[in-house]
Amino acid sequence: MNSLQQSLTVCFFLAAFLTLPVSAADIASGEQKAETCASCHGPKGHSSNAQWPNLAAQQSTYLTNQLKAFKTGDRINIMMQSMTANLSNEDIANLAAYFSSQKPAKAGGDPALAKSGESKAGMCLGCHGSTAQGNGQFPRLAGQHPEYLEQQLKAFKTGSRKSGPMQAITANLPEADFKALAAYFGSL
Ligand code: HEC
Ligand code: HEC
Repeated sequence: MNSLQQSLTVCFFLAAFLTLPVSAADIASGEQKAETCASCHGPKGHSSNAQWPNLAAQQSTYLTNQLKAFKTGDRINIMMQSMTANLSNEDIANLAAYFSSQKPAKAGGDPALAKSGESKAGMCLGCHGSTAQGNGQFPRLAGQHPEYLEQQLKAFKTGSRKSGPMQAITANLPEADFKALAAYFGSL
């Protein structure tokens, strides 16, 4: 073996080793676990109830963080606390892998409201992504139910849902803008 071959071999094993944690999350097991979620979050994470969020195509890091936060009670919701009580870290990783790999939902939003929301949405895109597709810990907002998004903005503003950046942003945002922003992101 010459030295080029040797370094290629090392690279190959290193690459195989480094990709292990990613492939550890098992979409098929996640799909099985997700059967109990469908009664509220809909088939493949496409929810038909505007109070219950779409999970399809949501960022897997964000999903993982939220499931852990419901489990510990850092994010308060009675339904989700009981749904997460018996999930292991592995279940959570598998569920996040499954939902994040599904095709995005498109909730839609009132067109006139969405238009006025668009003019206020620029400041959100730095974190939530240029098309609001999300990124890691920053959730996808595109296609989410406007009613759900508005509720969350209110929860950040009152502090009933905790998040440093979102509490700071909603503190300075008039509540009158929530509906328009929610309609805009829902329409994407
Ligand atoms: C009985 C109805 C119900 C069931 C069943 C349910 N959920 Fe939920 N889920 C909700 C509601 C309601 C919310 C919104 C909570 C809030 O307003 O903060 C939610 C929120 C979430 C969120 C946060 C989404 C976001 O955008 O922040 C995740 C993630 C989630 N659920 C995952 C799951 C998973 C995974 C399962 C199955 C193991 C499940 N849920 C089962 C009702 C349910
Ligand atoms: C500095 C970064 C940052 C900016 C700017 C920002 N966000 Fe967020 N946003 C976050 C983070 C981080 C979270 C996730 C909080 C958590 O983990 O609970 C979040 C969560 C949210 C959620 C909850 C989504 C869900 O699925 O439950 C909504 C709604 C939201 N942001 C709307 C907005 C809007 C509207 C704007 C612009 C007015 C905005 N954000 C600007 C960082 C940001």
